[in-house]
Amino acid sequence: MAIGIDLISFYTPPFFFSLDDLAKQRGVPAEKYSTGIGQKEMSMLPPDEDVVTMGANAALQILEKTERNRIKALIFATESGIDQSKSAGVFVHKLLDLPKDCRIIETKQACYSGTFSLRAAMGLVSLEKDSQVLVITSDVARYDLHSAGEATQGCGAVALLVSEQPRLMQIETESAYISEDVMDFWRPNYRQSAIVDGQYSTRVYLHALNECWKKYSELSKRLPEHIHQLCFHLPFTRMAEKALKQLFRCKEEFQSRLSKIAPGLLYNETIGNSYTASLYLNLCSLLDFNEDNLEGQRVGLFSYGSGFVAEFFSGIILKGYNKHLLKEQHTRLLANRKRLNYQEYLDFYHFALPQDGTSFHTPYFTDGYFRFAGLDAHKRLYEKAQKEA
Ligand code: HMG
Repeated sequence: MAIGIDLISFYTPPFFFSLDDLAKQRGVPAEKYSTGIGQKEMSMLPPDEDVVTMGANAALQILEKTERNRIKALIFATESGIDQSKSAGVFVHKLLDLPKDCRIIETKQACYSGTFSLRAAMGLVSLEKDSQVLVITSDVARYDLHSAGEATQGCGAVALLVSEQPRLMQIETESAYISEDVMDFWRPNYRQSAIVDGQYSTRVYLHALNECWKKYSELSKRLPEHIHQLCFHLPFTRMAEKALKQLFRCKEEFQSRLSKIAPGLLYNETIGNSYTASLYLNLCSLLDFNEDNLEGQRVGLFSYGSGFVAEFFSGIILKGYNKHLLKEQHTRLLANRKRLNYQEYLDFYHFALPQDGTSFHTPYFTDGYFRFAGLDAHKRLYEKAQKEA
């Protein structure tokens, strides 16, 4: 049975901060960010958005192209959860008017949980004829001001519709995964920003990639030339270069892979890290921007979530995939973002909600279809924006 990604779409809020501006403020050469880590801009979360609104905005675009009553589960992957008990997906389910006979769950393991959610979705689809599962990956990457991680912030959501006979990509069964308990990146419940040992986390990522690649090759009996395209979890886009260096020791092969991967980096280099969504943003960018037709090509995908759990798997791009992409909407979304000045960046960064149950109405910032309207008696309130979808 062919199961895989039927449709893919992303959303990021309509505000960004330029890394050239950050470099000026932090007194480092702009090239350190543009070349050294491969980032141009980072999306910034306004006070009236969160993982719920970003996830709902991402999924809205693909729901217009499917029969909602086939969606039997919504799996919400995030490490920026808004409640210790209630799944962010329950709010999204209501905002999107999804059918009642739909299960909802939230998954967490740093940036990895979107990949687990995708595999779980494939299992659920295989159990119920004609069913579909909506997987939403949505996150806000946030580090301390003045820390090395500051330049690798960002936010965004990717929605994946998983079904039988998908329109975009069939996911193959072979998959290599490993887990190890390491403290490379984590965020205790009492902190708004992550704690990270940046250099160590990069080494652990590459170690995990190495292990998964070896295991995948053994399992699948495929050679590197059988994998035409590669997508990676991208905390910053230069990570792709480091990953390719790890996999391809031959200079020519490395160079050819490096040029092949460029179209897949376009969304990530301007949105920044979006944790669970990052790998799927890389995939979305590859599908939207690769000049040559990708039909029949095998894409290898590497998912890494600090802490850590990692997985390497693959999929085949299907005939006619390019008729079902949302490139125009994605491009428009990025073109319409507003550039924040430094003070606005700080204001968004420092924005904090009352913690004591005081009612709060969030001022209007976003121009997305859904917004976080405020708090009342410890309850989060969401609303549809006053405009046509
Ligand atoms: P840093 O200390 O600012 O940077 O940290 P650096 O001094 O190592 O410089 C970075 C690169 O820029 C270096 O190149 C420099 O040479 C170069 P490299 O040695 O890597 O080839 N450079 C320049 N290039 C051109 N012109 C210049 C210049 N100056 C320096 N003038 C770091 C960088 C990424 C570690 C930091 O930003 C950080 O801690 N980020 C957060 C952690 C992270 O992203 N880790 C990645 C792996 S872990 C992961 O992916 C999981 C994660 O997404 C979380 C999750 O799973 O939920 C983070």
